[in-house]
Amino acid sequence: MENIPQHIGFIMDGNGRWAKKRVMPRNFGHNQGAAVFKKTINWCRELGVKCATFYAFSTENWRRPPDEIKGIMDLLRRYLKDIRASADENIRIIILGDIMTFDKDIQDELIDIMQTSKNNTGFIVGIALNYGGRAEICNAARTLAVKCSQKEITPDDITEELIGEYLYTSEMPPLDLVIRPSGEQRLSNFLIWQAAYAEFIFMDVLWPDFTKNDLEYAIREYAGRNRRFGGI
Ligand code: FPP
Repeated sequence: MENIPQHIGFIMDGNGRWAKKRVMPRNFGHNQGAAVFKKTINWCRELGVKCATFYAFSTENWRRPPDEIKGIMDLLRRYLKDIRASADENIRIIILGDIMTFDKDIQDELIDIMQTSKNNTGFIVGIALNYGGRAEICNAARTLAVKCSQKEITPDDITEELIGEYLYTSEMPPLDLVIRPSGEQRLSNFLIWQAAYAEFIFMDVLWPDFTKNDLEYAIREYAGRNRRFGGI
């Protein structure tokens, strides 16, 4: 039990290919992917994980065709209701990313979900929406630069810990493990600061086919690794 990762990041990749294999539109794959997102939260809780962050929409995903973006937004609207139900099960929801670009109804709902679940202690679900790791670090740098110019802090006060306090993950446990299905082996601008000492597990399964067995496999593999954090 002591080797269970406290915080897992999931890159929900492969929805498009999953749909293509079935000669279906890409949004069919996202639909299935969203159902697996919901199940994965429960599996993580059952297995003793404390926090899970999901990459749902990156700052680069706006480059996709408008109908696909609309499909993902519609899905998000539908799942917000589910997410709200999770907020009632002692789950805290933290949204990572700049949500001001989303439609007003989605923004309002997301802000409300974050506020109303703020004191929940059972589990933390992070959802990265219009999220980019570089943008996140830039924002923290900008905020700290303003504080320096207003003489609230000096440049010497800027430590790794202080930067960490200005990231979306400031109230989450450290990221232990990143799981990326679908055969791709890259981070794609996901939690790049937080992943500095995380373990990575890349799997061939497409996200809509991801199962509890796959999660258990990844956790077992993680538990067997020797994390040295630069030591020996
Ligand atoms: C990557 O697969 C997936 C996305 C860019 C979107 C992920 C979104 C969801 C799972 C649904 C919405 C989430 C919530 C929280 C309701 P891809 O489309 O790049 O797949 P491909 O590489 O096979 O084309």
